[in-house]
Amino acid sequence: MLTFLTRTTVFALSVLFHLSNIYVASGASCGCSSLVIPVHVDVLIPKDPADPFGGLKSNASSLRRLDVTYDVFGVFCQPEIVSPKSTDVIQLLAHGFTYTNQYWSLPTEEFRNYSYTGFACDRGLSTLAIDWVGVGLSSRPVNASDVQYATNAAVVSQLARHLKATSILPVVKPFKKVIGIGHSGGSVLLNFGAIAEGPKSPFDGLILTGELIIEPGALNPFPTISARDDTPLRWGGLDPDYVTTSNRSVFYPPDPASFSPRMLIFDDFTKDVGSVSTFLQAGLNSLTTHYTGHVAKVVGSEDQLFCVGTGRCNDVTALTAAERVLWPEARSFEVVVAQRSGHDLNLDFFAKGPFNTFVDFVEHFTGF
Ligand SMILES: *[C@@H]1O[C@H](CO)[C@@H](O)[C@H](O)[C@H]1NC(C)=O
Ligand SMILES: *[C@@H]1O[C@H](CO)[C@@H](O)[C@H](O)[C@H]1NC(C)=O
Ligand SMILES: *[C@@H]1O[C@H](CO)[C@@H](O)[C@H](O)[C@H]1NC(C)=O
Ligand SMILES: *[C@@H]1O[C@H](CO)[C@@H](O)[C@H](O)[C@H]1NC(C)=O
Repeated sequence: MLTFLTRTTVFALSVLFHLSNIYVASGASCGCSSLVIPVHVDVLIPKDPADPFGGLKSNASSLRRLDVTYDVFGVFCQPEIVSPKSTDVIQLLAHGFTYTNQYWSLPTEEFRNYSYTGFACDRGLSTLAIDWVGVGLSSRPVNASDVQYATNAAVVSQLARHLKATSILPVVKPFKKVIGIGHSGGSVLLNFGAIAEGPKSPFDGLILTGELIIEPGALNPFPTISARDDTPLRWGGLDPDYVTTSNRSVFYPPDPASFSPRMLIFDDFTKDVGSVSTFLQAGLNSLTTHYTGHVAKVVGSEDQLFCVGTGRCNDVTALTAAERVLWPEARSFEVVVAQRSGHDLNLDFFAKGPFNTFVDFVEHFTGF
């Protein structure tokens, strides 16, 4: 049985109070609450965390069962002025590898205007930005091999169902439509769910940012290191298969005039961990899905993992055709190459362009 319970009101309010001055989105137009939502998953995951397809092509004997309830941390934001758009539609935001929910709304005054959450609120849209299991303030399994795409795809899928069935806060009614927006590994995560669930997916639309088809094992490698060796004070007790990055410049455009040098410092300072399997299984997004909702991909022309030096993002028509092959039953399918943006579309000087693109897609997908 899959169950959802919010923690006692007392607990939720104490967390909310504790974090309310940190997790502010843009301005007065947005009200935000921190939540911890217990999510029960009962899934089959590959015994081998290096399985290049994350278990999607595995037979029963190479899978094992994971039957656990995790506490999933998320920040829910809703426009102060409610409208049918803000109460019917919720965007479920999934960060990328070694990021947290903060990717969608940086918790510092200096970078307040880089908040996609705040931008969306200004356009009348609600968001729930979660931390993956294993990351940030969500449960962190002792064994990193429990933190695979299969695990977190089950988590976000159950959360999406929960958002449609239940009230997540006393004054918030269930939502009618859930749009999943991922960044990088978070896009692969939503892609996993689309492959695993096809037409049964609870998502009405998917916006996959910072992600294109990855040939298994061919992701441009970037330096990763065991988190416990990188920052022993913070992560010294972790399984060595929890890893982090040693240099985040690959997430930004090659031209240093495209982003604030202080953003790179802040990013490095607030980085988190990911499991090795998140990295090794990313090629699962080269499999076909029978998902039937709307799909859009948004990638930066200066993305050093996918575009720079590959020629792949120059011809958008050809890129769209190549990507669309894997989504034969999607209700709509579009690819946008955001000019001048890097891999972390939200964190450079051009972020407003992608923010507009995301909101436009959400409105198109939901009819608002
Ligand atoms: C299941 O898959 C594993 C790994 O790919 C393989 O070694 C094994 O022979 C397969 N077993 C069956 C029964 O097909
Ligand atoms: C993690 O779990 C896997 C699968 O159950 C097991 O093979 C492995 O030994 C565990 N590793 C640690 C460090 O406990
Ligand atoms: C990070 O990598 C970039 C490019 O690969 C390099 O120019 C820069 O010096 C590196 N930064 C650090 C702190 O090592
Ligand atoms: C935030 O403000 C800075 C300084 O005005 C600007 O350079 C940057 O492009 C803005 N970022 C976004 C996402 O609007």
